[in-house]
Amino acid sequence: MSTHIGAKPGEIAERVLMPGDPLRAKWIAETYLEDARCYSTVRGMLGFTGRWNGVDVSIQGSGMGMPSASIYAHELVNEYGVKTLIRVGSCGALSEDLRLRDVIAAIGSSTDSNMNRMRFDGLIDYAPVADFGLLRTSVEVAERRGVTMRVGPILAADAFYTDRPDLYDTLAAYGVLAVEMESAALYTIAARFKARALTVLTVSDHIRTGEKTTSQEREQTFSQMVEIALDTIIA
Ligand code: HPA
Repeated sequence: MSTHIGAKPGEIAERVLMPGDPLRAKWIAETYLEDARCYSTVRGMLGFTGRWNGVDVSIQGSGMGMPSASIYAHELVNEYGVKTLIRVGSCGALSEDLRLRDVIAAIGSSTDSNMNRMRFDGLIDYAPVADFGLLRTSVEVAERRGVTMRVGPILAADAFYTDRPDLYDTLAAYGVLAVEMESAALYTIAARFKARALTVLTVSDHIRTGEKTTSQEREQTFSQMVEIALDTIIA
């Protein structure tokens, strides 16, 4: 096992979906995968491997925020040879023309996290971006499934609660669609260790209007997003 994942070598597939919530990982594995089995319960951050359309796929909870998600992404790639990571999660909309439950694929991720400033000694504003091939496949899959998916830049924030909502307005003015808390670290780690990564999100709340989805609505749209991510990761 690695420091934070209790799997034996070979128990994790090369393709991994990463929801933030470990119980979502369990739900995805039980709902979609054939022969799903749990490979790790360390810290309750559940991980499962099974098959989607005959291809081995794992589902690993990442926890919330970049410090947590980067631990799992780092160990998956470096200790278990994972090649492709797709985050599936929720986000708060910043753009006025997004609606609750819209699906977004994140082409790139701005961040207020200090992690990359440390990596580059404060000299470079590194631009974490999605893998182009995965992004293109996800767009084709969404079209085939009849789901309207927005593609654009997002913000990966360190804090869920902010004293500076004015910064969200500025980011929206620069075309940033939504805010979540993991993508910049995922894209950076994938780039650093030669893996591929993508983030697909559904809008769970609207920062501008204050609207929120019900848990039942979240479940429904979560399914559409997961199906897009599963078809993308095996393509
Ligand atoms: N902020 C950060 N992350 C989120 C949000 C939010 O409003 N909604 C869902 N994930």
